[in-house]
Amino acid sequence: MDDLFKKILSHSKEYGFVFQSSDIYDGLGAVYDYGQNGVELRKNLREYWWKAMVQLNEEIVGLDSAIFMHPTTWKASGHTDAFNDPLIDNKDSKKRYRADVLIEDQIEKYRLKAEKEVEKAAKRFGDSFDADLYRSTNPKVLENLQKAENLRKRFAQSAEAEDLKEMQQIILDEAIVCPVSGSKNWTEVRQFNLMFSTELGSVADGAMKLYLRPETAQGIFVNFLNVQKTGRMRLPFGIAQTGKAFRNEIVARQFIFRMREFEQMEMQYFVKPGTEIEWYEHWKAKRIQWHLSLGLSSSFYRYHDHDKLAHYANAAADIEFDFPFGFKELEGIHSRTDFDLKRHEEFSGKKMQYFDPELNESYVPFVVETSVGLDRLFLSVLSRSYDEETLEDGSQRTVLHLPAPLAPIKAAILPLVKKDGMPELARKIQKELSIHFNLQYDEKDAIGRRYRRQDAIGTPFCITIDPQSLEDGTITIRERDSMKQDRVDLNSIKERLLNECSMESMLLKL
Ligand code: GAP
Repeated sequence: MDDLFKKILSHSKEYGFVFQSSDIYDGLGAVYDYGQNGVELRKNLREYWWKAMVQLNEEIVGLDSAIFMHPTTWKASGHTDAFNDPLIDNKDSKKRYRADVLIEDQIEKYRLKAEKEVEKAAKRFGDSFDADLYRSTNPKVLENLQKAENLRKRFAQSAEAEDLKEMQQIILDEAIVCPVSGSKNWTEVRQFNLMFSTELGSVADGAMKLYLRPETAQGIFVNFLNVQKTGRMRLPFGIAQTGKAFRNEIVARQFIFRMREFEQMEMQYFVKPGTEIEWYEHWKAKRIQWHLSLGLSSSFYRYHDHDKLAHYANAAADIEFDFPFGFKELEGIHSRTDFDLKRHEEFSGKKMQYFDPELNESYVPFVVETSVGLDRLFLSVLSRSYDEETLEDGSQRTVLHLPAPLAPIKAAILPLVKKDGMPELARKIQKELSIHFNLQYDEKDAIGRRYRRQDAIGTPFCITIDPQSLEDGTITIRERDSMKQDRVDLNSIKERLLNECSMESMLLKL
């Protein structure tokens, strides 16, 4: 898996998906830029989310609130006082880690050990093997699962009590070592606030300390009544927003999985108090359905219900994805009660209440939130679309099996040779189709090499113009995954690309 992750990193750079920020100055840690192909894939993912959330749900509307917000926002939301990570330093390597991440990795290690035992047995026993029975009876498997469960419980208790000493003790008792130095020479666990701050106005004028928003959600909460009143929205209704968020992440090791500047796609669903759990279950199911509609295997997704609920939540779950470094959070679904709106009411002195015409009374709505990181989503799709194939003739190709509607380039226009009128016809086709699709024209190198370049960036179709095209108006269209080539009338290409590259088929699965 480590190997796959390294390949994804270098492929991302080589093919213009993701670059380290400020590369020429040796980069800036955990900050990344999206290149010519990455920006398209990211835009398509954002658009697909927006269509599914806003376009398909008449009771959900969009918003684009500013990154800077009045600093009292963050006092009200609790971020100024409590948006902390528990950190621990290794005295030998001088590296800093999140204590909770070290412990969660250890829990996962026990689970993986148990699964390895099951896999080994499956190989040994063949078709007659009953994995569930083995899991519930084999002593080695049971021992590792028990260790994972005990540790999970102990950690949940320490997190609940915010007991930093106990977290350190867990790390020592479990003999967790620093991945860099290999030593168990740890400091105490301390809390560290993750918000970036800056100043508004000059110091002489009495500058105001501002924060770069650590989540987009608060922009939605403070605009709740603006949208509700001007949009004449009735409960239940939602407000959706995509935008940048900033966190001073200390442990930022996993490429675009954990960044200091990233993008969130969040939706707050305002509901009548008492109905929130029903809506929470609704959105939990809806959101995994959305992920599955992307077409990756369902085995890459799982729910993780939270044991430790944040003080403002009465139910919470993550949708986890099997990244190249294991199952990790991709999206969070939280039932946030009326905490945020009530706190803004308290701190601003303004009412944040909804007048319910059916009950003829006003109240503060409850909120169910869905929150997915666009960059994590990008990494999930990219890493599981990546494939290295050995072809029938023994040659190798690297291919991204991206769903066609998400692919950066929908079709490559390839004149077979650079003469005899083929480039001219190819340019004409390109001009007509580029009104509808993002295309790439390529006339350099042998056709096979051009196909490989397109496979590597996930282009679903290659359109080749050859001598016959000039005679009878047909072209060959090559499909990326099957590599099958069909000769078709060039007037039929637009329809075919519209059918296969529009988001419609994915939206229909929702
Ligand atoms: N408003 C709720 C909220 O912000 P969160 O679990 O802290 O909840 C939501 O973040 C999502 O944002 C995560 O599931 C993840 O996909 C993404 N995310 C959070 N921190 C991130 C980071 N440092 N880099 C990239 N994505 C991040």
